[in-house]
Amino acid sequence: MECFTYRRNELFAEDVPVAELARQYDTPLYVYSRSGMQAQYRALASAMAEVGPHIHFAVKSNSSAAVISLFAEEGAGADVVSAGEIFRAMRAGIDPAKIVFAGVGKTEFEIDYALEQGIHFFTVESEPELERLSKRAAAVSGVARVAIRVNPDVDPKTHKYTSTGKKESKFGVDLERALKAYELAARLPHLEIVGIHMHIGSPLMSVAPYEQALEKVLPVCDVLKKRYPTFRILDIGGGLGIKYTEEETPFDVKEFARRLTPMLKQSGLEIGMEPGRFLVGNAGILLTRVQYIKDNPFKKFVVVDGAMNDLIRPALYEAYHGVLPARKTEATILGDVVGPVCESGDFLARDRELPAVKQGDLLAIQSAGAYAFAMSSSYNSRPRAAEVMVHGERSQLIRARETWQDIVRGECIPNW
Ligand code: LLP
Repeated sequence: MECFTYRRNELFAEDVPVAELARQYDTPLYVYSRSGMQAQYRALASAMAEVGPHIHFAVKSNSSAAVISLFAEEGAGADVVSAGEIFRAMRAGIDPAKIVFAGVGKTEFEIDYALEQGIHFFTVESEPELERLSKRAAAVSGVARVAIRVNPDVDPKTHKYTSTGKKESKFGVDLERALKAYELAARLPHLEIVGIHMHIGSPLMSVAPYEQALEKVLPVCDVLKKRYPTFRILDIGGGLGIKYTEEETPFDVKEFARRLTPMLKQSGLEIGMEPGRFLVGNAGILLTRVQYIKDNPFKKFVVVDGAMNDLIRPALYEAYHGVLPARKTEATILGDVVGPVCESGDFLARDRELPAVKQGDLLAIQSAGAYAFAMSSSYNSRPRAAEVMVHGERSQLIRARETWQDIVRGECIPNW
């Protein structure tokens, strides 16, 4: 579904002109389409219906309460990577029994908290973590359910910072070592082996890496099923891609389902998934207002009020985000969209053909629903942006813009 469309040359978020949102809530502003997120969730659930997976929304991609709660309403669980995310997910209405907890560095405090809440299972990333889980389960809850994250060593063909399933990655346990890790889990008291987990990278634009990974992981599942009667879950992680550039084709979820369903069904296991970006990425924009058009002899810069602290993906991964004008123009200029932060890496778009905007105009940075606000900071003492959700003709502030007081909260000057 198209969440952001032009009507008589004006950009709309669902049925609300974005210019109206900027007037009402100011900029920089994150705008999300509720129907867009819901449609993606339903498209995935219906494509995968034959498998009937447990869908755990990857909270790290967009952790706003309003967003999590809409997936909770759809029946989703949550994939989390910290105790803070467990707190958030539960606060937004996710049943703790539907929470899965990954991450290479779970502290004792985090493990205890997760055990107290009764989460579904821990995605275990190392042998020492198994030992810690066993000890903490003995002290806290009696049992910790575990799925070991295996590293199938396939190349997801994505940015090196977001590729997670290769041998040299810090995540998971090598497939060759996996059986040994399960033997350890079986020897340790207070652990229940419930499944196996993989997540190979993000975003993936094709189905092939999933197939390659499953071809390696499924034989291991067969062995585990025979050895451990409680082994019942295969979690295939997240990573489903979205279209960022004009040239890319949207991730074909039907094709994904068509190719993977036979393999998944053949496993005879309950299937888990952990999509983040696919559900929210293209249902969000970052609205920003042009402050200056600056020319130097080499380049033109469109200086806007959004910056790398709001959206760090271009600076961090040289990621491409489309740029749309709030009011369509035929004329174009060549240049960069940059923010006010004191870093040369502070750009939102580089060397692009851009709409010929002028001071005061609005630009929408596209594909800003995932890993956008969630990765924002108040660097340069810039209050983090506000977030708004649109639902048909309605809009609602779902997170107030930070204030200077919010930024300094907790700071103090030593009295010595
Ligand atoms: N499951 C696990 C264990 C993960 O580590 C991740 C993402 C996901 C699920 C969800 O992946 P998704 O479906 O959203 O692709 N900041 C980067 C992306 C980092 C992804 C980290 N892990 C970016 O902006 O592209």
